[in-house]
Amino acid sequence: MKSIFQKCLITSLLLGFSIPTTADTFNTKRCINMGNALDAPNEGDWRHTIEAKSFERIAKAGFDTVRIPVRWSAHTGNAPNYIIDEKFFQRVSDVIQQALTHDLHVILNIHHFDELNAAPKENHTKFIALWSQIASRYQSLPDTVYFEIINEPTDNFKGDLMRQTVKAGFAKIRETNPTRILIMGGDNWSGLKSLPSIPKINDTNQVYTFHYYDPFKFTHQKTSWTHLKNSPTVTWASASDKKALEGAAQYAANIQKTTGIPVFLGEFGAYEKAPYKDIVSYTNATRKAFENVGISWCAWNYTATFPFYNTTENKWDLEKLEALGLSPNGIIKK
Ligand code: BGC
Repeated sequence: MKSIFQKCLITSLLLGFSIPTTADTFNTKRCINMGNALDAPNEGDWRHTIEAKSFERIAKAGFDTVRIPVRWSAHTGNAPNYIIDEKFFQRVSDVIQQALTHDLHVILNIHHFDELNAAPKENHTKFIALWSQIASRYQSLPDTVYFEIINEPTDNFKGDLMRQTVKAGFAKIRETNPTRILIMGGDNWSGLKSLPSIPKINDTNQVYTFHYYDPFKFTHQKTSWTHLKNSPTVTWASASDKKALEGAAQYAANIQKTTGIPVFLGEFGAYEKAPYKDIVSYTNATRKAFENVGISWCAWNYTATFPFYNTTENKWDLEKLEALGLSPNGIIKK
């Protein structure tokens, strides 16, 4: 009796097809984060309730993917099963469907699981219970839905303990989703230099991710949730700023090349209190630097903070959108 894999292999060889690898199925190039919505304590708390029409607008502008951060951990029952609240689960399902309706790929993650970062061992069971439910419920969704195992490991969630936990999450998902693309980030908020800390799994459908907010004192100036709340105004665009960016792109590209695993820039952007012209040039230079070395990207964020779209005035920030090589009507011809 031959396994399905063996049968596929034989059929593929006979027909002259190549066996699908990660590169064939991770098709994201231009992505935007739908943050400040389902990752808030409750959707709406952070000035963003996801609307179906946003996905139509996003697809029309030329994005191919949306990343949907979700704070699952705040919507469960108690131990030992941590059953996800059905109303919340259905809401996430509806949002995924809205994105799929507009032919967008979807990256679904576990976001702001703060308790896991603070006490990884104590929250291991809850983490696995979450993925058990999410993976099982969404196993029939198209393979253009990707799962990202955990957003920005930090605090006590690092090193071997982080790797073992993430691998356990991976294995749990694989019980019901044998080939879905699974995305993983590394230590220390998944910064660029964390890429080598990500566990390498012997699985062709693994993708590495990192977040790029360097220089932090520029991108996060005057943010209320960091130590930079009262920081001075910082500009961006000096020769050394640009050199650092090129170095970062080379670093990520090198990891992609040496590991053979796709590397994905899952978040980048600059806070709205930075000088506007510098936000635009930073967005443009960062997007291009990574794109030029074959790294796909996901801008932070659609609306509310770091916004590309103003939901009060109902309009795109045209300069920021153009910095991504896009316009309300699609990709800008080069
Ligand atoms: C966090 C957001 C934050 C952004 C930039 C994201 O990972 O979830 O709350 O605004 O990073 O700091």
